[in-house]
Amino acid sequence: MFETTPLNPPDAIFGLIEEFKKDPRKDKVNLSVGVYQDEAGTTPIMKCVGNAEKVLLEQAGSKSYLPIDGIPGYNGLIGNLILGDELCPVSTQPVRSTSIHSATAQTPGGTAALRVAGDLMKQNLGSKTIWMSNLTWANHTQIYSAVELEIKNYDYLDDRGTGLDFGKMMSSLDSAQPGDALLLHTVCHNPTGVDLGREQWQQLTELILDKALFPIFDFAYQGFGDDIESDAFPIRNFCTQGGEAFICNSFSKNFGLYAERVGGITAVTSSADSAKAILSQIKRVIRASYSNPPLHGAAIVNKVLGDQTMRSDWVTELASMRDRIKQLRSEFVRLVNSIIPDGDYEYVNHQRGMFSYSGLSRDQAERLKSEYGIYALRSGRINIAGLNSSNIKRVCTAIAEVMK
Ligand code: LMR
Repeated sequence: MFETTPLNPPDAIFGLIEEFKKDPRKDKVNLSVGVYQDEAGTTPIMKCVGNAEKVLLEQAGSKSYLPIDGIPGYNGLIGNLILGDELCPVSTQPVRSTSIHSATAQTPGGTAALRVAGDLMKQNLGSKTIWMSNLTWANHTQIYSAVELEIKNYDYLDDRGTGLDFGKMMSSLDSAQPGDALLLHTVCHNPTGVDLGREQWQQLTELILDKALFPIFDFAYQGFGDDIESDAFPIRNFCTQGGEAFICNSFSKNFGLYAERVGGITAVTSSADSAKAILSQIKRVIRASYSNPPLHGAAIVNKVLGDQTMRSDWVTELASMRDRIKQLRSEFVRLVNSIIPDGDYEYVNHQRGMFSYSGLSRDQAERLKSEYGIYALRSGRINIAGLNSSNIKRVCTAIAEVMK
């Protein structure tokens, strides 16, 4: 029965992690997967996470099933984190109403949230097409192909491939039809690090509302752009103007809870009844795919966000991660410029979050790996958070060498 099954190529990101692990070179550098690394090159457990785990261990616990939509109370905290105090004050309810209406369910990471949103777009909301930026996280294409939405691309980068061409982006959405889904990276675009400014988000909001498109905000990097509140601007601005949307958020990066698989799907709706109805459909899709979400990661997030002191410790810790990446960006630009004085690498300072779209071609990325043991994605994406004072000089010299 299995004889005719074709071999699938390794995953564009996780395949490289496997290769990296097997690479015997001592000075190898992993700039591939989007995981934060500290100065020592490790991915630490955040202090606030360790503290929350201690409290959880001391409390009488249970490993019984969670409700389909997750830990009671967690969903209200997530709604508040994404939508803010005004649109969604902290609540214990998965369905909430203020000037806007919303419902949240816990999911295993942002990936499951994106998939649940895709299932609902196809099954309940009648979308046939989803638009995504013509460079996007490789898994976006897999997720939405799996739910059989037709994938169309909107232009994103300028001719040099290092900054935004907003005019081109808007014109390529000209042919989008009412009801089409529109996938948006809320902040810290993956793989390019190139984001829209506030004025551009407003223009895009007007286009979405005029054309009656349906946005899915992928929100995997809240806190890695400017800060947790400002990074949510595109969503809050859109919802304040009456927009309905899905928001798929992840705590992999901003809580460092990669392996715990914790995130959420939030639907912002135009009425309380629709919020109730869409939550019932979210629960149907979840029950049919993974039944109910895992406990541990969400219990940590729930503990931290629900406690004023722990929450403010988290905000401070996250800010120090963000600041470290910004410093690495400017050090990277300084070093590359000192090696290639006539090059212009200032764009790396303007890109945000973990990633930089370095302008490396597929062949150059391949050479970096084979000749120098430096792992970047074939698309040319590098994870700036993988740099540190011991490897940055070698990385910049190697990049300059392969780019010659
Ligand atoms: C990445 O883009 O490297 C991360 O989001 C990890 C992943 O799941 O691909």
